[in-house]
Amino acid sequence: MKITVVQNYAELSAAAAEYIAAVVADRPNATLGLATGNSPLGCYKLLCEYCAHGDISFAHVTTLNLDEYVGLTADNADSYAYFMRKNLFDNIDIDPRNTHIPNGVAPSLQQECARYARLVGALPRAVQLLGIGVNGHIGFNEPGTPLNSVTHAVQLSYDTICANAAHFGGSATRVPTRAITMGIGEIMSAERILLIASGGAKAQAVKDAVRGDISPLCPASVLQTHADCTFIVDEQAASLL
Ligand code: GLP
Repeated sequence: MKITVVQNYAELSAAAAEYIAAVVADRPNATLGLATGNSPLGCYKLLCEYCAHGDISFAHVTTLNLDEYVGLTADNADSYAYFMRKNLFDNIDIDPRNTHIPNGVAPSLQQECARYARLVGALPRAVQLLGIGVNGHIGFNEPGTPLNSVTHAVQLSYDTICANAAHFGGSATRVPTRAITMGIGEIMSAERILLIASGGAKAQAVKDAVRGDISPLCPASVLQTHADCTFIVDEQAASLL
């Protein structure tokens, strides 16, 4: 595990964007595993700028997102599908048909999870970008999730619902209680993993992930066993290391 500590969110975003841009420059038809949340926003903004300036192209890139809320359609402004379009896909030259995200309104969640797991298996990712939850979750794999899990539907923890309430007008009751997430085993099958974390609220989770026991109690701790995993964290998120 390689840990890079940068001063602040702006530096973190620049370092993450350079990392992803280098992967795409090297392999223009790579599959990228992508994440949502505040952490990758700055990175995505820079990738949009690089693309607008003609520095990189996503024309042959495929993407696989980590997760989606159950019950939100892709055109719901709170859905991760909408987040990805607004913050990345609509502003780069990617073919929308090559962007994949679980369908949170599929008639059968079980069948949707199986479909997405097949897709993840068929599209080896050159890199998986990750944020980290305050409780150490990755994707929506909450503490207690088996470390070899595949795509599944989850009940979100109270911690996660509260942490994500800001995206729902500050109202925890508006946050969907279920989600579909890529499993931990599938996250680990990416060739490289890049985790980004910013701010003091993530310091304990980062410490548990990097220095703690490898345990389902902190899903991100499994990343210690990945052959090519990089953490880029700002000084506040690194404050307990
Ligand atoms: C959500 C997402 C995770 C993300 C986490 C942290 O729970 N499912 O993939 O890593 O939030 O989000 P943020 O980056 O906003 O702190």
